Amino acid sequence: MSSQPPNYTLLDADKTKEMLTLFNGERTGWVQAGEKKWFFPYKYTEEREGFYNFKPRPSDTWIISHPRSGTTVTQELIWLLSNNLDFETARKKTYMQRFPYLESSMDYHSAVMDELVKKNEGNLEKQEFCKSLARPVYETLEALPSPRFIQSHMPLSLKPGILDSGCKIIYMARNPKDVAVSWYIMHKSVVSLGYVGDFPTFWNYFKNDLTVFSPYWEHVKEAWAQRNHPNLLFMFYEELRADLLSAAKKVANFLGKNYNENQLSKLLDHLNIDNFRKNPAVNLYSWYNCGVYLNSEFFIGKGKTGNWKEFFSAEMEKEADEWITKNLEDTDLVFPIINTKDVCH
Ligand code: A3P
Repeated sequence: MSSQPPNYTLLDADKTKEMLTLFNGERTGWVQAGEKKWFFPYKYTEEREGFYNFKPRPSDTWIISHPRSGTTVTQELIWLLSNNLDFETARKKTYMQRFPYLESSMDYHSAVMDELVKKNEGNLEKQEFCKSLARPVYETLEALPSPRFIQSHMPLSLKPGILDSGCKIIYMARNPKDVAVSWYIMHKSVVSLGYVGDFPTFWNYFKNDLTVFSPYWEHVKEAWAQRNHPNLLFMFYEELRADLLSAAKKVANFLGKNYNENQLSKLLDHLNIDNFRKNPAVNLYSWYNCGVYLNSEFFIGKGKTGNWKEFFSAEMEKEADEWITKNLEDTDLVFPIINTKDVCH
């Protein structure tokens, strides 16, 4: 039996008008769902039941995160650990084919999709590829045999029953300043987001829970509250950056996999950010070639902890630190690296 996702309201008219001038990938508006006011593009209203009622299987492995928290590298790590380090398939098939992104279709407003299809006129293959991005992945996933690998940015509370389903979940968190910068760069680099404003304006939206998949703090805290659940592994991107080998062993242990040092060394080499950048199965040049990405360099970026320093003024930094302190008051959540005084890797 299907259940009803929480009610939503439309973002107020003035805010919508203002934001539509800055976020060109959205053409209708945004909604806020449930008590926590999860922020989504309008297309969520058409697909929310599909997301909410999607049934996890005990044999699934999920990665859940707020966007730009190190999802892709962790996906690749999980997939390889779970598939006997099959580097050959990992290079042949894109990570999206091996590890589909559940909410991908929500990113594509129909008007933007029409423009993409038009842009690729005369090339049926590219047009078909574009159209495929807007098809609900929950339908494709339902038809996939087990074991499935699923990426999702939906918070845990919008996935009823997932923790009791027996599936394995890896949750990735990253410090909010770097998330905001990376999310901003992505917003400027993808037609489906199409942000044309500056970073301080974006940061204001992020901080005020007006970017897609916000509120950031609730997203992370919901998972943190489950960090001792036997089927959930809570990890920080910063720990992965600081010591990839230890992070890989931690994930392997969680998945019940065992590899020797030599095998792990090959895995680390595959995951190395410089190699990742050159790997078309993860740095999706095909998306660039058909105009979904506006530049080919952003998706696998610098992966630098503390990159936010290049984007925040001293005043913004002070304000951001106050915002972080306030949001950490009611929790024992501790980020490995968050403030200016912390060491960056
Ligand atoms: P930056 O934008 O700070 O460079 P996600 O996969 O959730 O979208 O996260 C994207 C972030 O992970 C980006 O951060 C990206 O550069 C970084 N990243 C991607 N591949 C990586 C890798 N192999 N190792 C480390 N970081 C990686």
